[in-house]
Amino acid sequence: MNRYLLPLSVLGTAVGGAVLLRDYVAGGACPSKATIPGKTVIVTGANTGIGKQTAMELARRGGNVILACRDMEKCEAAAKDIRGETLNHRVRARHLDLASLKSIREFAAKITEEEKQVHVLVNNAAVMRCPHWTTEDGFEMQFGVNYLGHFLLTNLLLDRLKASAPSRIINLSSLAHIAGHIDFDDLNWEKRKYDTRAAYCQSKLAIILFTKELSRRLQGTGVMVNAVHPGVARTELGRHTGMHSSAFSSFTLGPVFWLLVKSPELAAQPSTYLAVAEELEGVSGKYFDGLKEKAPAPEAENEEIAQRLWAESARLVGLEMPRASSVRKEPLPK
Ligand SMILES: NC(=O)c1ccc[n+]([C@@H]2O[C@H](COP(=O)([O-])OP(=O)(O)OC[C@H]3O[C@@H](n4cnc5c(N)ncnc54)[C@H](OP(=O)(O)O)[C@@H]3O)[C@@H](O)[C@H]2O)c1
Repeated sequence: MNRYLLPLSVLGTAVGGAVLLRDYVAGGACPSKATIPGKTVIVTGANTGIGKQTAMELARRGGNVILACRDMEKCEAAAKDIRGETLNHRVRARHLDLASLKSIREFAAKITEEEKQVHVLVNNAAVMRCPHWTTEDGFEMQFGVNYLGHFLLTNLLLDRLKASAPSRIINLSSLAHIAGHIDFDDLNWEKRKYDTRAAYCQSKLAIILFTKELSRRLQGTGVMVNAVHPGVARTELGRHTGMHSSAFSSFTLGPVFWLLVKSPELAAQPSTYLAVAEELEGVSGKYFDGLKEKAPAPEAENEEIAQRLWAESARLVGLEMPRASSVRKEPLPK
């Protein structure tokens, strides 16, 4: 019996340690119990993954939740799931394709027409490491959807957000922003050899720079804007990397994934926290790693880069020219 004691206690310690490490890496549940009855919330890319779980959590807390998705079949199905699960019937599906400036303008016009107030905007949708695709308006897909689309959408909804103050904007970034760089000579990857990983990192750095600049511009309005890395989660984000469909990687990396990768429910906790927590009232222009505020990469703190990116983005999406539906007539060469 004694000879089993040592191996058993080593095994017990290892399992206990792994569980503790997993809990530490995953981060906890949203510490705020705040509810948001009657508050109108928009979540982009809410048909699956972190977006769907964020919408679920905000519906559970009483919000009027609008799911903004490009595929209406998936969007209606997610809205139905959320209504069924939370028993909150104020959950609606609306069409928004962030790869189309026209669609973004139509969505914003519909919201402005239908909603007197918008209290929370969660800019969650993203595409990661896709092939060298371009949006309807000719922007590199990851820059176009993850950043530029949300840049335009937010600006078009600002009047409603200001009218609903105190209100909040939450921008989903990623730890990957650390490897990002804004190349003003080639924002759209027309000159360089396309690097799908670097393009994702650039888009996630851009959204933090946008968060910082927008926060400076919104001072005194009661609209708060923060960026967040939700943690690494088991979602469809890796659909273009092929990893999640490979049996080999599932088998070999399974235990590592179990240890380091969150459920979408847990990964939705940081966005939920930023959307509802009363103790965060007045906090703006910050970057959160999970539930904790952290300093982002130095380039993300550079005010000059943020201002230049704002000016360039406004030009690209035609922000100063509200009637222009797109800025490019021809798609960029792939
Ligand atoms: N999962 C992670 O480990 C992780 C880590 C760091 C940061 N994040 C960030 O967390 C956010 C949510 O990611 P996730 O993991 O939940 O990814 P996901 O499961 O792939 O969900 C992404 C969502 O974005 C939508 N989307 C993509 N292109 C769109 C477009 N053109 N117009 C409108 N919606 C579009 C997708 O719609 P379809 O289903 O129709 O494609 C989907 O609803 C993203 O911003 C991501 O960068 C995730």
